[in-house]
Amino acid sequence: MTSNTGEQTTTIVIFGASGDLTRRKLIPSLCSLFCKGRLGPEVQIVGMARSMMTDQEFRDSLSRGMEGFEEFSPERAEWEEFTSRIHYCCGDVSSPDDLKGLEKTLQGIETPGKPANRLYYLALAPFLYGPAVLNLGSTGLAREDDCWRRVVIEKPFGSDLTTAQELNRLVHSVFTEDQVFRIDHYLGKETVQNLMVLRFANTIFEPIWNRNYIDNIQITVSETVTVSDRAGYYDEAGVFRDMFQNHLLQLLTVVAMEPPSNFQADLLRNEKVKVLNAVRRFTPESATRTAVLAQYEGYLDETGVPSGSRTPTYAALRLDVENWRWHGVPFYLRSGKALDDKRTEIVIEFRKPPHMMFPQDIGPNILAIQVQPNEGLHLEFQAKTPDEKMELRPVDFEFHYEDSFGGQAIPDAYERLLLDAMNGDASLFTRSDEIEEAWEIMDPVIQGLAAPGAPRPSSYAVSSKGPDSADEFLAKDSRLWQHRTWQH
Ligand code: BG6
Repeated sequence: MTSNTGEQTTTIVIFGASGDLTRRKLIPSLCSLFCKGRLGPEVQIVGMARSMMTDQEFRDSLSRGMEGFEEFSPERAEWEEFTSRIHYCCGDVSSPDDLKGLEKTLQGIETPGKPANRLYYLALAPFLYGPAVLNLGSTGLAREDDCWRRVVIEKPFGSDLTTAQELNRLVHSVFTEDQVFRIDHYLGKETVQNLMVLRFANTIFEPIWNRNYIDNIQITVSETVTVSDRAGYYDEAGVFRDMFQNHLLQLLTVVAMEPPSNFQADLLRNEKVKVLNAVRRFTPESATRTAVLAQYEGYLDETGVPSGSRTPTYAALRLDVENWRWHGVPFYLRSGKALDDKRTEIVIEFRKPPHMMFPQDIGPNILAIQVQPNEGLHLEFQAKTPDEKMELRPVDFEFHYEDSFGGQAIPDAYERLLLDAMNGDASLFTRSDEIEEAWEIMDPVIQGLAAPGAPRPSSYAVSSKGPDSADEFLAKDSRLWQHRTWQH
């Protein structure tokens, strides 16, 4: 297997090219990489979907998709130059004949005599992952001779431990693990990558990053969006499969892992697997007793939601990582849709001083990592209020990307991940064992809460903070959700 050089060409093949992910994430990210000069001149893109279209019609549909796209709007000339590298092949990924047709399209694009690498991106409905991979294998499209073949697989990877194991087996029957890139886009977020830098490139945080100084850790992913036109998918998934099994657990691993000796994909992933392995397992009964789950008002009226659905759109859960570093430090995870705020935040709540010499009750030190938006971090500590005898008040140190890195926009996570996949760097992708550990944690929770006798999710108003039961949940542990509204 060889890496990218001028002597090679690389083709990115997007299966599911007419879908939302391609239009909203993949094409804008690839175009942005192109505009930054990071997509080598030899990179071509081929979209495949079932609708009949010419190359030009496909490019036009992508241009329409970019109209009014706020996150990224390239100059017209750049866009045209970029789209001139985009091609289209009509076909069904579950048909071996159609994949043979794809091979012909690829041969027509790739320069004869030059090794042609290929990155296959499965932006497909999950039930097509298996057929797509098997057909890539049976038609020879996965074979590596003097060039590489890689496959990028979107989430959800399986719907429980058994289906994830089956999918891993199937994928490994065609590709070796180092050819497989399972995406969790949270790992590609700048602030999540920075969490590793914060912890492992600074000496001041690591000595206090343990049970001796930390009281608890809170991870919140709050969204304002409802499920809207995704109800068909969402009602099957619910918040545990949609957000907890992947994004929230990945955030937890980055917060809790031990420092690897090297920033190298497998060393890093070994440490993340160890964290997941150390998470105390639920049983369906313990999950039913402890988890908070709720559904936003009006969810049952969304088109595509079956009547009486008990799918939770909000959940809060306590996880315990059973190792020396984290013994006795609860990790509280919560996430929900249709809430009052779009915010992903990791809050480290430190222990209070063991003895207070001042006659005032004070709050704990807080380190709040704003994953998004207003990316940055705040360290809250006590200060003496001037011109008062000894009155303490919380104040904070702040770091904001905008202040420190100027107008330099934070790229979409997909830019980093697409580039890493092309460069063969799997550090920010989830390995097969990581996926399986994560399902092992979540499966009993999902099963317990879906069992016939399990309680119905409570309800919460749209644009609210979520159910009161989430506050009661922490109150039982004599704790509070430590959210601050940071002004910036
Ligand atoms: C996706 C989920 O993986 O992540 C969505 O399927 C969710 O339901 C989205 O809205 C959140 O991503 P982000 O980057 O907007 O926080």
